[in-house]
Amino acid sequence: MKILIINGVNLNMLGSREVKLYGKQTLDDLKDRLLSREYNVDFDFYQSNSEKDIVEKIHTHKLEPYDYGIFNFGAHTHTSIAIRDAILSVQIKFFEVHISNVYAREDFRHKSYFNDIAIGSIVGFGFDGYEFAVEKIMRGINGS
Ligand code: DQA
Repeated sequence: MKILIINGVNLNMLGSREVKLYGKQTLDDLKDRLLSREYNVDFDFYQSNSEKDIVEKIHTHKLEPYDYGIFNFGAHTHTSIAIRDAILSVQIKFFEVHISNVYAREDFRHKSYFNDIAIGSIVGFGFDGYEFAVEKIMRGINGS
């Protein structure tokens, strides 16, 4: 099982960025946590602040496919038709994750360019959301 985890723009700042909202944990903590679960999964952890680099990372699925993606595109969630089109062009199956509950925040965060093409969206559960996505993948995505 190969899973691509993408964290997008500004998520490299986790740990020091708006800690009341996003907590004190860093992306390295997320990685350590997922690896410590000893899932039978080959994770590819990727972070970039660049829309272009994220588009190109998603394109790699065409040549070397992943089984699933778990994606948090940060603010690009609410703006990026380019990342949406990249996903549609390679047909990667994915979960959308947000650390914070975007629906309890500003109106501009209520629009996602990804929720209608995702298997599902998990919002508001901090880093647990990434874990829930992996566990759902392991359990099987059809039915419960
Ligand atoms: C976020 C929510 C986005 O609205 C915001 O721009 C982020 C983080 C989250 O994980 O809660 O950068 O994706």
